[in-house]
Amino acid sequence: MQTTYRCVGVTGAGAMGRGIAQIAAQAGSIVRLYDTQPEAVARARDELFAQWDRQLEKGRLDAAAVAGCKARLLPAQRLQELADCDLVVEAIVERLDVKRALFAELEQIVRPQAVLATNTSSLSVTAIAAGMQQPQRFAGYHFFNPVPLMKVVEVIAGLRTDPAVCQALSAFAREMGHTPVLAQDTPGFIVNHAGRGYGTEALRVVGEGVADFATVDRILRDQVGFRLGPFELMDLTALDVSHPVMESIYHQYYEEPRYRPSVITAQRLAGGMLGRKTGEGFYRYLDGKAQVSA
Ligand code: NAI
Repeated sequence: MQTTYRCVGVTGAGAMGRGIAQIAAQAGSIVRLYDTQPEAVARARDELFAQWDRQLEKGRLDAAAVAGCKARLLPAQRLQELADCDLVVEAIVERLDVKRALFAELEQIVRPQAVLATNTSSLSVTAIAAGMQQPQRFAGYHFFNPVPLMKVVEVIAGLRTDPAVCQALSAFAREMGHTPVLAQDTPGFIVNHAGRGYGTEALRVVGEGVADFATVDRILRDQVGFRLGPFELMDLTALDVSHPVMESIYHQYYEEPRYRPSVITAQRLAGGMLGRKTGEGFYRYLDGKAQVSA
């Protein structure tokens, strides 16, 4: 299988990095997966191997495909091991300073023609690229959680991005079975801007005592037809990701009241009740299933 990018580096082996690594390996690319926490890479590898084994059992992938995926997923101990990558997708913590520092380092490591991309949910692609030597090869590549199931990816051009980079990223998205959507570099891009009210208004409903969060979820899921209620979605995304996204969009729109983050999520974030990934968010989770309201 020949893909647009023969070798893809993924930095950050959390929920998003793991998913991006999965679909890139399934498309036929070699994937080098790096995280500052080596145990995150080991965990991601174990989970992906188990995932592929399940797909084999269910007959969705044959034995040769599964063996190929496993062989193409290469855990990296050091960032330098991404030197031969044609594309590096960053899916690390949502902080401008940390992302900028990573790309400054990556520019010293990868070849000049390699493409660099960020999976940021809310930061400006142009701002992340501000200190880069070659900002024209840098773009936003915003996947959704869980990556293999959510088949859309926003491809975002910063002010200095070469349009050819967005075209190549779009072609690669199609090879991975995803639908690329071109978006401008504005706060929240398309989905996190258009979908803002889903979380913030639900938090207001709860904050004003109109209904509790489980009721809001139940109505919006079972009666209105959303796949997940807003609080279930926040538990899936995790508050250490979604609360900073709310803050970032609010500040980028000059404290627009519609986007004001909630003290409810700020308090839960401070208390470490992040969602599924900590076993406790708005709901408590046992074996990955919501059990009771937390
Ligand atoms: P996560 O917390 O699950 O994983 C982040 C990983 O990055 C951690 O394993 C951490 O050790 C690692 N990391 C932190 N700094 C690093 C560095 N300097 N170099 C290498 N690895 C580093 O986070 P998640 O949810 O995967 O989010 C990652 C990015 O994707 C964020 O920018 C987030 O805004 C974005 N995003 C998240 C979505 C979600 O629903 N969780 C959806 C779409 C985008």
